[in-house]
Amino acid sequence: MSQVIAHRGNSSVAPQNTLAALEAAWRAGAHAVEIDVQLTGDGQVVVLHDETLDATTDGTGEVASTDLRAIRALDAGGWFSPAYSGQRVPTFGEVVQLLETRPGTDLLLEVKGSWSVDQVRLVTDPVLEAGLEARVVVQSFWPETVAALREAAPGLRRALLVVHAPPDLLQVCAELGVVACNPHGLVLAQHPDLVDRLHRAGLQVMVWTLNDPEDWATALAMGVDAVITDRPDRMVGWLAAR
Ligand code: G3P
Ligand code: CA
Repeated sequence: MSQVIAHRGNSSVAPQNTLAALEAAWRAGAHAVEIDVQLTGDGQVVVLHDETLDATTDGTGEVASTDLRAIRALDAGGWFSPAYSGQRVPTFGEVVQLLETRPGTDLLLEVKGSWSVDQVRLVTDPVLEAGLEARVVVQSFWPETVAALREAAPGLRRALLVVHAPPDLLQVCAELGVVACNPHGLVLAQHPDLVDRLHRAGLQVMVWTLNDPEDWATALAMGVDAVITDRPDRMVGWLAAR
């Protein structure tokens, strides 16, 4: 993964986790996009951050109890701006298709929740079938999901998301066979030596979610490999001006 990763697409200028947000991220010059995926009530993979539909669509209720067809009928853009009315909740398949048309950009795919081996195959199979494995890293907060990813697709790169740095973190990462450990920015502030320790263990570090030049500078001085940001346009410009 390269340095600037657009969080939920370019979510500062377009509704998060929509195809419009992905296009905006690429237009901004982001090196990669981060998206979140959830399972619908009928076991399909959709691109959504929250467990419920309320905040980012004109629907209500839990994603896990709503079928794909009903979710696809919702408006996922009007809550952000009338200019984006008509945006749909993307399926993961749509993202894979779009990614195929954008060589040179990467995908950081966050799997939300505890998924089984069969369930994670719903994301790993399309990536492998499209031959996109060199451009994709799959991350999760849930160690059991990361373990399922390892079983389903051992050759596909994985990362562990963390909000703490427990003493056994390096051991956990080793057991899960991840290529990266991706902390919240506060974790780095609390553990200034963490990036070095992770690097010495052969792991990359992608920090989230930093939106200000001061924080980008601090993170890059620590040696992070990438910054996940809501402001990819601004960060690309800032990097170019350094
Ligand atoms: O990529 C890391 C970051 O997205 C994790 O937090 O809540 O924005 O998915 P969240
Ligand atoms: Ca995320």
